[in-house]
Amino acid sequence: MIRTLRDLPAGLAGKRGLVRVDYNVPLDAGQVADATRIEASLPTLRWLLRRDVRPVLLSHLGRPGGRPDPALSLAPVAGALAGLLDAEVLFSAPCDGEAALRASRELTTGQILLAENTRFLPGETANDDALAARLARLGDFFVNDAFGTLHRAHASTTGVPALLSPSAAGLLVERELEALGALDRPRRPFVVAFGGAKIGDKIELMRRFVERADLLLVGGAMANTFLRAQGIETGASLVEEEALDLARSILAAGGERIRLPTDVIVLDRQGGEGERVAAVGVGEIEPEMAALDIGPETRARYAEALGGCAAFFWNGPMGLFEDPRFSAGTFAMAEAAGEATVAGGFTVIGGGDSAAAVRRAGLHDRVSHVCTGGGAALEYLSSGRLPGLDVLTERRRP
Ligand code: 3PG
Repeated sequence: MIRTLRDLPAGLAGKRGLVRVDYNVPLDAGQVADATRIEASLPTLRWLLRRDVRPVLLSHLGRPGGRPDPALSLAPVAGALAGLLDAEVLFSAPCDGEAALRASRELTTGQILLAENTRFLPGETANDDALAARLARLGDFFVNDAFGTLHRAHASTTGVPALLSPSAAGLLVERELEALGALDRPRRPFVVAFGGAKIGDKIELMRRFVERADLLLVGGAMANTFLRAQGIETGASLVEEEALDLARSILAAGGERIRLPTDVIVLDRQGGEGERVAAVGVGEIEPEMAALDIGPETRARYAEALGGCAAFFWNGPMGLFEDPRFSAGTFAMAEAAGEATVAGGFTVIGGGDSAAAVRRAGLHDRVSHVCTGGGAALEYLSSGRLPGLDVLTERRRP
């Protein structure tokens, strides 16, 4: 059983709650460009503030490699959080020194302390015991609400809760696990869509879902690898040569339940004279053509497949959606997911890029759940475990 906020003892008022959040958010010119992850942490912070807890927040941002990098400071996030929560948010750098300890002790009710990027210190990703001990001093109890970072065994995710008790999962983590857990015994028909570039990164998940799903729709660059694995000419398209055998094994396991594109949008003669974008059937891809999106016929087939689903899981865009010439497949999938939800289906969007696409299409409120962590969601769905969760799990006594 995973310990939750409701398992924390009574009498939290005045205590410092050390909360690991995932504020690994995109920045643009020093400003938070997408506050989704900050917003997702608010229910837990409000829960704590209502109980007069003094929250001290830890997070990473980017991959600075154990050295301070001003471009990856969490300072702009403090301002964004203050605006969203209407609370005073103090900031402390570095995250582990005497100044941070003093600031945590001087916090007053209603204030929040955000500590500087944990990955500015080399001990964070090395899960260094001494760093974990210094961080653990910042709180009287620990809450992990950083769903997107639960697959990392770092000092601030697994080191601290090993030292600081009690510890519990936050409300975001609970909500994410509930949505992903529902896919373990999905209502049927259960439809799954996979896209994005690499089969290799997702192979365990694909293997699990190929056993479980009634239909598996494939798009994005990985569809090229599946087509090539069937001996179809893919021209200048991105193909993962080393994953051709994996693709064949998935095709053999899924049989009729796997759907591949029947047409694609190609960029022909890229950068050369007569460069053009066209929709072609998959049997008509010529040597200078690169498939970058699913075509109109495939969009319609996939939308129809979603039409009657009772549960739907989607990971990875259907094409190069950042380029408007190749975004129609991904946005059509987002639209179809929205319609499936309205029709009573349980729909989960489970990856960084597909989540961004659903948001960009303005449809994130029309699906049942959008995961805040792609890597963590994939690992949890593949193995049922996450290191950051294991340390918050009560073992049953034999
Ligand atoms: C994410 O954005 O997926 C999480 O914040 C984890 O970041 P990481 O892949 O750099 O560990």
